Amino acid sequence: MTKSPRACVIGNPISHSLSPKLHGYWLKRYDLPGEYTSLQVAEADLENVLRTLPEQGFVGVNVTIPHKVDVLQYADQITDRATLIGAANTLTFKEDGRIFADNTDGYGFISNLRQGAPDWNPKSGPAMVFGAGGAARAVIVALADAGAPEIILTNRTRAKAEALRADFGARIRVVDWVQAGTALKDAGVLVNTTSLGMKGAADFKVSLDELRPETVVTDIVYNPLRTPLLTTAEKLGCTTVDGLGMLLHQGVPGFERWFGKRPEVDEDTRQAVLA
Ligand code: ATR
Repeated sequence: MTKSPRACVIGNPISHSLSPKLHGYWLKRYDLPGEYTSLQVAEADLENVLRTLPEQGFVGVNVTIPHKVDVLQYADQITDRATLIGAANTLTFKEDGRIFADNTDGYGFISNLRQGAPDWNPKSGPAMVFGAGGAARAVIVALADAGAPEIILTNRTRAKAEALRADFGARIRVVDWVQAGTALKDAGVLVNTTSLGMKGAADFKVSLDELRPETVVTDIVYNPLRTPLLTTAEKLGCTTVDGLGMLLHQGVPGFERWFGKRPEVDEDTRQAVLA
Protein backbone atom coordinates (compact mmCIF):
# COMPACT_ATOMS: atom_id res chain seq x y z
CA MET A 1 0.00 0.00 0.00
CA THR A 2 1.37 3.41 -0.88
CA LYS A 3 1.48 5.93 1.95
CA SER A 4 -0.77 8.96 1.84
CA PRO A 5 1.53 11.92 1.17
CA ARG A 6 1.78 14.72 3.71
CA ALA A 7 2.87 18.31 3.11
CA CYS A 8 2.66 21.54 5.05
CA VAL A 9 3.68 25.18 5.12
CA ILE A 10 6.33 26.25 7.62
CA GLY A 11 6.85 29.79 8.91
CA ASN A 12 6.79 31.89 12.02
CA PRO A 13 4.09 33.07 12.57
CA ILE A 14 2.00 30.79 10.38
CA SER A 15 -1.65 31.16 11.38
CA HIS A 16 -2.34 33.75 8.63
CA SER A 17 -1.17 31.44 5.81
CA LEU A 18 -3.75 30.67 3.11
CA SER A 19 -1.76 27.68 1.80
CA PRO A 20 -3.62 25.04 3.89
CA LYS A 21 -6.94 26.27 2.44
CA LEU A 22 -5.52 26.23 -1.08
CA HIS A 23 -3.97 22.77 -1.00
CA GLY A 24 -6.85 21.37 1.07
CA TYR A 25 -9.26 22.60 -1.60
CA TRP A 26 -7.24 20.99 -4.41
CA LEU A 27 -6.94 17.67 -2.53
CA LYS A 28 -10.71 17.61 -2.14
CA ARG A 29 -11.46 18.80 -5.66
CA TYR A 30 -9.33 16.08 -7.26
CA ASP A 31 -10.27 13.48 -4.64
CA LEU A 32 -6.63 12.74 -3.86
CA PRO A 33 -5.26 11.01 -0.79
CA GLY A 34 -3.00 13.25 1.29
CA GLU A 35 -3.02 16.08 3.78
CA TYR A 36 -1.67 19.61 3.93
CA THR A 37 -1.24 21.39 7.24
CA SER A 38 0.70 24.32 8.72
CA LEU A 39 3.54 24.23 11.19
CA GLN A 40 4.97 27.08 13.20
CA VAL A 41 8.74 26.67 13.24
CA ALA A 42 11.10 28.83 15.29
CA GLU A 43 14.38 29.79 13.62
CA ALA A 44 16.40 27.63 16.02
CA ASP A 45 14.35 24.54 15.15
CA LEU A 46 14.47 24.86 11.38
CA GLU A 47 17.17 22.29 10.60
CA ASN A 48 15.78 19.73 13.02
CA VAL A 49 12.27 20.10 11.60
CA LEU A 50 13.52 19.67 8.02
CA ARG A 51 15.42 16.51 9.00
CA THR A 52 12.50 14.91 10.84
CA LEU A 53 9.54 15.77 8.58
CA PRO A 54 10.49 13.18 5.89
CA GLU A 55 10.52 10.47 8.59
CA GLN A 56 6.92 11.40 9.39
CA GLY A 57 5.69 10.86 5.84
CA PHE A 58 6.12 14.43 4.61
CA VAL A 59 6.98 14.69 0.92
CA GLY A 60 7.53 18.42 0.93
CA VAL A 61 6.87 21.83 2.45
CA ASN A 62 6.11 25.35 1.41
CA VAL A 63 8.30 27.87 3.16
CA THR A 64 7.30 31.34 4.21
CA ILE A 65 8.68 34.21 6.29
CA PRO A 66 11.20 34.12 7.98
CA HIS A 67 12.72 30.89 6.61
CA LYS A 68 12.86 31.43 2.84
CA VAL A 69 16.56 32.33 2.75
CA ASP A 70 17.73 30.08 5.59
CA VAL A 71 16.31 26.87 4.11
CA LEU A 72 18.81 27.06 1.25
CA GLN A 73 21.67 26.06 3.52
CA TYR A 74 19.98 22.72 4.25
CA ALA A 75 19.14 21.93 0.63
CA ASP A 76 21.04 19.25 -1.28
CA GLN A 77 19.89 20.51 -4.66
CA ILE A 78 18.77 24.04 -5.54
CA THR A 79 17.11 25.10 -8.80
CA ASP A 80 18.68 27.89 -10.82
CA ARG A 81 15.74 30.19 -10.18
CA ALA A 82 15.95 29.66 -6.39
CA THR A 83 19.69 30.33 -6.55
CA LEU A 84 19.13 33.52 -8.55
CA ILE A 85 16.38 34.74 -6.24
CA GLY A 86 18.42 33.73 -3.19
CA ALA A 87 15.46 32.10 -1.45
CA ALA A 88 13.22 29.02 -1.67
CA ASN A 89 9.50 28.63 -1.04
CA THR A 90 9.00 25.01 -2.12
CA LEU A 91 11.00 22.06 -0.76
CA THR A 92 10.58 18.47 -1.89
CA PHE A 93 11.95 15.61 0.20
CA LYS A 94 13.44 12.80 -1.85
CA GLU A 95 12.92 9.20 -0.70
CA ASP A 96 16.40 9.19 0.83
CA GLY A 97 15.64 12.40 2.76
CA ARG A 98 17.63 14.70 0.49
CA ILE A 99 16.12 18.15 0.09
CA PHE A 100 15.34 19.68 -3.31
CA ALA A 101 14.74 23.45 -3.07
CA ASP A 102 12.84 25.55 -5.60
CA ASN A 103 11.38 29.03 -5.75
CA THR A 104 7.99 29.25 -7.46
CA ASP A 105 7.18 32.86 -6.47
CA GLY A 106 8.33 34.25 -9.82
CA TYR A 107 6.44 31.51 -11.64
CA GLY A 108 3.35 32.37 -9.58
CA PHE A 109 3.75 36.04 -10.35
CA ILE A 110 4.08 35.63 -14.11
CA SER A 111 1.35 32.97 -14.38
CA ASN A 112 -1.04 35.24 -12.51
CA LEU A 113 -0.16 38.17 -14.76
CA ARG A 114 -0.63 36.12 -17.93
CA GLN A 115 -3.95 34.75 -16.71
CA GLY A 116 -5.26 38.15 -15.58
CA ALA A 117 -3.92 40.13 -18.56
CA PRO A 118 -3.77 37.70 -21.50
CA ASP A 119 -3.03 40.49 -23.97
CA TRP A 120 0.06 41.67 -22.09
CA ASN A 121 3.22 41.15 -24.11
CA PRO A 122 6.30 41.23 -21.85
CA LYS A 123 8.51 42.21 -24.78
CA SER A 124 6.39 45.23 -25.69
CA GLY A 125 8.02 47.66 -23.28
CA PRO A 126 9.78 48.22 -19.98
CA ALA A 127 8.44 46.76 -16.78
CA MET A 128 8.32 49.08 -13.78
CA VAL A 129 8.89 47.51 -10.37
CA PHE A 130 8.31 49.25 -7.04
CA GLY A 131 10.27 47.80 -4.12
CA ALA A 132 13.55 45.93 -3.71
CA GLY A 133 12.85 43.31 -1.05
CA GLY A 134 12.58 39.53 -1.33
CA ALA A 135 9.41 39.62 -3.40
CA ALA A 136 10.98 42.06 -5.86
CA ARG A 137 13.82 39.61 -6.52
CA ALA A 138 11.37 36.89 -7.57
CA VAL A 139 9.37 39.34 -9.70
CA ILE A 140 12.47 40.71 -11.45
CA VAL A 141 13.81 37.23 -12.27
CA ALA A 142 10.40 36.28 -13.71
CA LEU A 143 10.06 39.48 -15.77
CA ALA A 144 13.58 39.12 -17.18
CA ASP A 145 12.85 35.47 -18.00
CA ALA A 146 9.64 36.46 -19.76
CA GLY A 147 11.65 38.78 -22.01
CA ALA A 148 11.04 42.26 -20.60
CA PRO A 149 13.52 44.45 -22.50
CA GLU A 150 14.14 46.72 -19.52
CA ILE A 151 13.18 46.74 -15.87
CA ILE A 152 12.77 50.16 -14.30
CA LEU A 153 13.32 49.66 -10.59
CA THR A 154 12.51 52.12 -7.84
CA ASN A 155 12.72 51.79 -4.10
CA ARG A 156 12.43 54.16 -1.16
CA THR A 157 15.95 53.13 -0.16
CA ARG A 158 17.80 53.53 -3.45
CA ALA A 159 20.85 51.53 -2.32
CA LYS A 160 18.75 48.35 -2.18
CA ALA A 161 17.63 48.86 -5.77
CA GLU A 162 21.26 49.42 -6.79
CA ALA A 163 22.18 46.15 -5.06
CA LEU A 164 19.57 44.30 -7.13
CA ARG A 165 20.99 45.89 -10.25
CA ALA A 166 24.43 44.63 -9.27
CA ASP A 167 22.98 41.13 -8.86
CA PHE A 168 20.75 41.00 -11.92
CA GLY A 169 22.60 43.15 -14.40
CA ALA A 170 22.28 45.95 -16.84
CA ARG A 171 18.73 45.29 -17.94
CA ILE A 172 17.71 47.05 -14.72
CA ARG A 173 17.52 50.84 -14.66
CA VAL A 174 17.26 52.32 -11.17
CA VAL A 175 15.23 55.50 -10.76
CA ASP A 176 14.76 57.57 -7.63
CA TRP A 177 11.58 56.99 -5.66
CA VAL A 178 10.68 60.66 -6.12
CA GLN A 179 11.01 60.32 -9.91
CA ALA A 180 8.94 57.14 -10.10
CA GLY A 181 5.77 58.99 -11.09
CA THR A 182 7.49 60.29 -14.24
CA ALA A 183 9.29 57.04 -15.10
CA LEU A 184 6.09 55.01 -15.15
CA LYS A 185 4.80 56.63 -18.33
CA ASP A 186 7.02 54.26 -20.36
CA ALA A 187 5.92 51.10 -18.57
CA GLY A 188 4.16 48.16 -20.25
CA VAL A 189 3.50 46.73 -16.83
CA LEU A 190 3.70 48.23 -13.35
CA VAL A 191 4.25 45.99 -10.33
CA ASN A 192 4.01 46.95 -6.68
CA THR A 193 6.15 44.59 -4.56
CA THR A 194 6.22 46.88 -1.51
CA SER A 195 3.90 46.56 1.45
CA LEU A 196 2.31 49.92 0.60
CA GLY A 197 -1.45 49.63 0.33
CA MET A 198 -1.64 46.58 2.57
CA LYS A 199 -4.20 46.65 5.37
CA GLY A 200 -2.52 48.44 8.27
CA ALA A 201 0.42 49.73 6.17
CA ALA A 202 0.97 53.18 4.65
CA ASP A 203 -0.76 54.16 1.40
CA PHE A 204 0.83 53.91 -2.03
CA LYS A 205 1.36 57.64 -2.60
CA VAL A 206 3.33 57.76 -5.85
CA SER A 207 1.61 59.97 -8.40
CA LEU A 208 -0.10 57.95 -11.12
CA ASP A 209 -0.95 60.98 -13.28
CA GLU A 210 1.36 59.79 -16.05
CA LEU A 211 0.03 56.24 -16.11
CA ARG A 212 -1.25 55.24 -19.56
CA PRO A 213 -4.35 53.06 -19.99
CA GLU A 214 -2.24 50.55 -21.96
CA THR A 215 -0.13 49.78 -18.88
CA VAL A 216 -1.07 46.60 -17.03
CA VAL A 217 -1.00 47.18 -13.27
CA THR A 218 -0.51 44.45 -10.69
CA ASP A 219 0.02 44.40 -6.96
CA ILE A 220 1.46 41.59 -4.89
CA VAL A 221 -0.55 42.87 -1.93
CA TYR A 222 -3.81 40.88 -1.70
CA ASN A 223 -5.24 42.17 1.57
CA PRO A 224 -7.27 44.09 0.54
CA LEU A 225 -7.81 42.42 -2.85
CA ARG A 226 -8.51 45.77 -4.50
CA THR A 227 -5.66 47.95 -3.28
CA PRO A 228 -5.80 51.73 -3.73
CA LEU A 229 -3.20 51.33 -6.51
CA LEU A 230 -5.43 48.91 -8.43
CA THR A 231 -8.52 51.04 -7.89
CA THR A 232 -6.81 54.16 -9.22
CA ALA A 233 -5.31 52.28 -12.17
CA GLU A 234 -8.67 50.82 -13.06
CA LYS A 235 -10.22 54.30 -13.08
CA LEU A 236 -7.53 55.35 -15.55
CA GLY A 237 -8.56 52.50 -17.84
CA CYS A 238 -5.70 50.09 -17.09
CA THR A 239 -6.07 46.32 -16.95
CA THR A 240 -5.42 45.36 -13.32
CA VAL A 241 -4.43 42.05 -11.75
CA ASP A 242 -4.72 41.48 -8.02
CA GLY A 243 -2.13 39.70 -5.90
CA LEU A 244 -4.16 36.71 -4.74
CA GLY A 245 -3.49 34.86 -7.99
CA MET A 246 0.26 34.96 -7.40
CA LEU A 247 -0.23 33.07 -4.16
CA LEU A 248 -2.51 30.54 -5.86
CA HIS A 249 -0.21 29.96 -8.84
CA GLN A 250 2.96 29.64 -6.75
CA GLY A 251 1.35 26.63 -5.08
CA VAL A 252 0.88 24.73 -8.37
CA PRO A 253 4.36 23.19 -8.86
CA GLY A 254 4.59 21.96 -5.25
CA PHE A 255 1.12 20.42 -5.33
CA GLU A 256 1.91 18.65 -8.59
CA ARG A 257 5.19 17.26 -7.26
CA TRP A 258 3.77 16.11 -3.93
CA PHE A 259 0.30 14.87 -4.86
CA GLY A 260 0.78 13.94 -8.53
CA LYS A 261 -1.78 16.20 -10.21
CA ARG A 262 -1.30 19.61 -11.79
CA PRO A 263 -4.09 21.70 -10.23
CA GLU A 264 -6.15 24.42 -11.90
CA VAL A 265 -6.18 28.00 -10.70
CA ASP A 266 -9.66 29.30 -11.52
CA GLU A 267 -12.53 31.24 -9.99
CA ASP A 268 -13.56 28.26 -7.86
CA THR A 269 -10.03 28.09 -6.43
CA ARG A 270 -10.11 31.79 -5.60
CA GLN A 271 -13.49 31.51 -3.90
CA ALA A 272 -12.38 28.47 -1.89
CA VAL A 273 -9.36 30.36 -0.56
CA LEU A 274 -11.34 33.54 0.14
CA ALA A 275 -14.15 31.69 1.94
P1 ATR B 1 9.37 41.39 0.93
O1 ATR B 1 10.35 40.30 1.19
O2 ATR B 1 7.93 40.97 1.10
O3 ATR B 1 9.59 42.08 -0.36
P2 ATR B 1 10.79 43.38 2.48
O4 ATR B 1 12.06 42.71 2.13
O5 ATR B 1 10.59 43.80 3.88
O6 ATR B 1 9.56 42.44 2.14
O7 ATR B 1 10.58 44.60 1.49
C1 ATR B 1 9.58 45.51 1.68
C2 ATR B 1 9.61 46.53 0.55
O8 ATR B 1 8.59 47.50 0.83
C3 ATR B 1 10.92 47.31 0.46
O9 ATR B 1 11.16 47.62 -0.88
C4 ATR B 1 10.61 48.56 1.27
O10 ATR B 1 11.40 49.69 0.95
P3 ATR B 1 12.79 49.94 1.73
O11 ATR B 1 13.79 49.05 1.09
O12 ATR B 1 13.06 51.38 1.51
O13 ATR B 1 12.54 49.60 3.17
C5 ATR B 1 9.18 48.80 0.87
N1 ATR B 1 8.47 49.65 1.83
C6 ATR B 1 7.99 49.31 3.04
N2 ATR B 1 7.41 50.36 3.64
C7 ATR B 1 7.52 51.42 2.78
C8 ATR B 1 7.11 52.79 2.80
N3 ATR B 1 6.45 53.31 3.86
N4 ATR B 1 7.40 53.56 1.73
C9 ATR B 1 8.05 53.05 0.66
N5 ATR B 1 8.46 51.77 0.58
C10 ATR B 1 8.20 50.96 1.62
